[in-house]
This record gives sequence, structure tokens and C-alpha cells, in this order.
Amino acid sequence: MNHGYTYQSALQTSEAVHWQIEDIIGGEKRLDFSRPFMPESLARVKSLLFLTDDEKRILNQIRGNAYLCIFGLVEEFILPFVLDQTRPQLPDDDYRTRALLAFAGEEAKHIHLFKQFRQDFEAGFGTSCSVIGPPEAIAKAILDHDPLAVTFTVLHIEWMVQRHYTESIRDDQDLDPQFKSLLKHHWLEEVQHAKLDTLLAEELAAGRTEQQILDAVEQYIEIGGFIDGGLKQQVEFDLDSFERATGRKLDESQKLQFRAVQLQANRWTYLGTGMTHPMVLNTLENLTPKARQRIENISPAFS
Ligand SMILES: [Fe+2]
Ligand SMILES: [Fe+2]
Repeated sequence: MNHGYTYQSALQTSEAVHWQIEDIIGGEKRLDFSRPFMPESLARVKSLLFLTDDEKRILNQIRGNAYLCIFGLVEEFILPFVLDQTRPQLPDDDYRTRALLAFAGEEAKHIHLFKQFRQDFEAGFGTSCSVIGPPEAIAKAILDHDPLAVTFTVLHIEWMVQRHYTESIRDDQDLDPQFKSLLKHHWLEEVQHAKLDTLLAEELAAGRTEQQILDAVEQYIEIGGFIDGGLKQQVEFDLDSFERATGRKLDESQKLQFRAVQLQANRWTYLGTGMTHPMVLNTLENLTPKARQRIENISPAFS
């Protein structure tokens, strides 16, 4: 595959962009709750016409909190997974070892950052908002799958983060600058992760038959189904948080609309933007065109 990614160049970029948690959160660096946190293409609050502008902003912030918490959650399975892929080949390639350890270290830092964000959010927002979990149970359920399927899932997540930032967040001037800064710093390091995970996918697929690769694709779809179940629960949590934060009780038809719009918004955010990402599809196609076709057949349901 001629993508040109190498462990050495990913390591060099990782060292160049490295930042400290203290540089981007805490002290004077505070969230501005008068601004939205999420781009509308992911939040999809504006089509809920029965909400006032203030209520739309509050729901947008609830979605922003869930967004960073869900990233914290998925990174709790990415961290042990990357360590597991590193250890068996420690002496083989020093650049590989160092690049993957940097990848794991960055995810540990992101988990830490997102926990601190959650404290700041709860202190400023004033209502505690539930998020799916616990992380250990979700990590175990995902890591029980074929490592190649887990790698496809990680690849999906890494490219998805980049798509969110470059297509929807970077040029949105309405967003809270502090929240946007967290997303920017996260993205800066995720760029290398996507490349490293592409290399891992190629390594794990090497020597497999086409059928074995397609079996891993089925398991990737199964993991997607598991995440989709979590998203349905998250929409219920967000509805509850919204009613508690605003004091507004939605009637049954409003709740139906809330659930329908927000479930699809969550599906697009966490599933569709990864499954339809050209780089995810390219990696699958390079393993076998049937893998790409399989994902393209089901991805419209998550758009
Ligand atoms: Fe991350
Ligand atoms: Fe990452």
C-alpha cells in the first residue's frame, strides 16, 4: 500500500506536537457556557423546533460533554490494545516500539484530560449528566473480539476524530474557544494514531485468507452494533439530563422527535463518520474489495 506511513515519521511528528494537559485546561482556561460546544452537523439540535435557542444551546453542551466522555471511554480500550500489540515485538523495530508507546501514552493523557474536562463541565454546567459505561466493561466487551476487528474499530475512531475536527470544528467560529482548544489538541495527536493504526491493520491482516479478513469485518460490524446499543442508552441519558438542566418536561410527541433526531445524530457522530471515511474504506479495500463493499452496504443506516 502506498500511503507512505512509517513508524519513524509518526514518532517524529508525535514528538513535535506533544503538549501537556496543564497547557490546555485549568486555571484561567474555562468553559464559556454562553456558547455552543459542538458543531451543528454533529449535534443536530436545530431541527428540534419545539426547543428555544437557550434550550438548544443546553442540549448542545450536554452532547459536548457526552462526546468527550465517550472518547475517554473508547480510549480506555485503545490503550491496552496498543500495549498488547507492542509487547510481543519489543526488540524487533525500535521505531515501532517507540511510536506505539507514544500512541499509548497519548491515549492515557487524553483519558486523563477528558476526566478533568468532566470535572470542569459539571462544576460549570450545574447539572450532573449521565454517560454510558463503565469503561472497563465496555473495554472488555470490545477486546473480546479478533484483534484485526478491534484494529478496524480503532482505525474508524482515529479517522472519525480527524473528520470531525477538519470538516466541522476548525472553521466554526461560534463554538466555545476552550472546548474547541481541547478538540484541536486531541486532533493534533490523533493524526499520528490513524497512521499507526493503518500500519497495525496491515500487520494483523498479513497472511490471512480473504475469508479470515471478511470474518474480522463481520466482528467490526458486531462491535459497531454494540456501540449502537450504547448510543441508544446515551440518548435516554441526554433526554433526562436535558429535562433536569432546563426544568422543561417534553410531551410524548416531543420526546419521540427528540429520540429520533438525537439517535441519528449520535449514529452519524460515532458510527457513520468513521464507516464512510475514505481512508477507512481505502484500508479495507486494500485488504479485499469485498470488505469495502460490505461496509458501504450498511453505512447509509448511520448517516
Ligand atoms: Fe485520543
Ligand atoms: Fe487516538
